[in-house]
Amino acid sequence: MNALPEWVASAEHTAHAYDLIADRYADVWFTNPDSDLADAFLAHLPERSRLLDVGCGPGQYTRHFWSRGHTAVGIDISQRTAAGARARCGRSMFARMTMMALGFPDAAFDGVWACASVPHIPSGSVGSALAELHRVLAPGGTLFVNVPLGLGARVETPADFAQEGTYGRFFQRYSDAEDFLAVLRSTGFDVVDSGENVVRSDVLAHRGTISAKWFNVTAVKS
Ligand SMILES: C[S@@+](CC[C@H](N)C(=O)[O-])C[C@H]1O[C@@H](n2cnc3c(N)ncnc32)[C@H](O)[C@@H]1O
Repeated sequence: MNALPEWVASAEHTAHAYDLIADRYADVWFTNPDSDLADAFLAHLPERSRLLDVGCGPGQYTRHFWSRGHTAVGIDISQRTAAGARARCGRSMFARMTMMALGFPDAAFDGVWACASVPHIPSGSVGSALAELHRVLAPGGTLFVNVPLGLGARVETPADFAQEGTYGRFFQRYSDAEDFLAVLRSTGFDVVDSGENVVRSDVLAHRGTISAKWFNVTAVKS
């Protein structure tokens, strides 16, 4: 991490970094969900599924899932982000919560959608995060998760999306997608689909230089 202080990888810092950019992030992303990606995930699920949107941001995917007839709740570690999702979506189905300790019973969901949120967990803790997502999935339930590809961890600067004068968001990148798949498998998931996704240039323009390549995985709780 190039001499960055260790605390920039902490959940507290991530929550604070998102509190600072919550409105700016929502301005870019709330009306811009990747519907194709979300619908490809939904294709693995029955109608009227119970879905959890992990690290839901402004709630654009939770809202998309409602529009497709599913029941969905969103959780996010940033208080300001969760409150913004409630306000923007006009519904209260969003809570401040960490994915490391989800306040839901075992097997509560048919599907878990974790879009661009797991990269905020350092690689040493990612197994615990995936185990928690596994716990709340029903047997046979489907997980979508993605992580950026690249060399090691990175912290955003204001040249990316961070607020001026602050350390930005911590991102765990993976140099080898197989390493990430190995953690998923050891957590009890069967990988049913995976592939690299080169981020669209209009999206990159907002996302800075963290990574142009993401690794998308669909997996089933075995
Ligand atoms: C890059 S944003 C993605 C938001 C949305 N899923 C999307 O695709 O636009 C990552 C989100 O994950 C949330 N997040 C980061 N760490 C988290 C954690 N430990 N538990 C829950 N949410 C977390 C952040 O607050 C942020 O809203």
